[in-house]
Amino acid sequence: MSNSKTQAWLLANNKYTKENVTRLTFGKAKTISVASGKGGVGKTSISLKFSKTLSKQGYKVLLIDCDYNLSNTAIKLGLPLNNDFYKLITSRISLDECLHKQGKFHLLSACSGNIEMFEEAESYSRHIINLINKCEDDYDYIILDSPAGLNKDILTLNAYCDDRFIVVTPDRSSITDSYSLLKILNKNYGIKENHLIVNKISTQNQFNRLVKSLSETVDSFLSCRLKVLGAVELETMAVDLFDKLLTGKKEKFAFDNNFIKMVKIFTEEYSEGFVVNHDSFASNKVRHDVQTTIS
Ligand SMILES: Nc1ncnc2c1ncn2[C@@H]1O[C@H](COP(=O)(O)OP(=O)(O)O)[C@@H](O)[C@H]1O
Ligand SMILES: [Mg+2]
Repeated sequence: MSNSKTQAWLLANNKYTKENVTRLTFGKAKTISVASGKGGVGKTSISLKFSKTLSKQGYKVLLIDCDYNLSNTAIKLGLPLNNDFYKLITSRISLDECLHKQGKFHLLSACSGNIEMFEEAESYSRHIINLINKCEDDYDYIILDSPAGLNKDILTLNAYCDDRFIVVTPDRSSITDSYSLLKILNKNYGIKENHLIVNKISTQNQFNRLVKSLSETVDSFLSCRLKVLGAVELETMAVDLFDKLLTGKKEKFAFDNNFIKMVKIFTEEYSEGFVVNHDSFASNKVRHDVQTTIS
């Protein structure tokens, strides 16, 4: 699809506008994509933890793993992999049969190395958007765990969502890739607003430097806003232990608080009517919270 066609298609399919802020009241889900451009920065970990934190606070959440043939969400939750996602998009089973449910948290995981899925020529973003349209009345939040990369399927899904959480880590390639994502979203899809989550942070200075450099570049070259949602600390425990404890029942991580704060800021911002009066740099409130968190 050409860019103009994609945009026309997006506009035609996306019934909701940023002004339509009362959707939660009507049981319509707010859609968020967790994206970055670069892989390995923590999108899946943050999608899971944010979704679980929201659900613990009473919101009904559907997490859709959009890494359609390299699904990691089920693995991180210790669930078996299956081909349900392929069966779903080929209309062999229903969405309900595919969902893993833990209270108000529902997961639609994807495939992993499935040959038929690999050969499926049709764009998977259409399938996911159709799924969202079908079940958005049933959830408060629908969160998309985006794959890495900058292909049109990924960009389409990111642009389709009401909001985007751009996950960045303090290394130059992550910052550069996130900027590239923001640039294409802004210039080709007209996206003017995104949230920033800085992951794997070690010090306050590191956080400040990253936010300053990314925000200044965005301000100088793009016509979009980057609102800082928060920071997540770098956990230095063994990787396998990190994944095991990530969504465990016991609140063992210092960063559980990071998520509680981010969820609070985000849900309050939304319930206040999506009023945007932040600078592109961190708002004082967010900056204060982050400072408290990581100092
Ligand atoms: N805050 C963090 N501290 C330590 N390790 C992390 C943190 N966030 C993510 N990780 C680890 O980084 C790796 C990549 O995370 P993942 O969520 O799979 O990234 P992505 O989905 O962006 O590819 C995983 O091994 C995960 O356990
Ligand atoms: Mg991932």
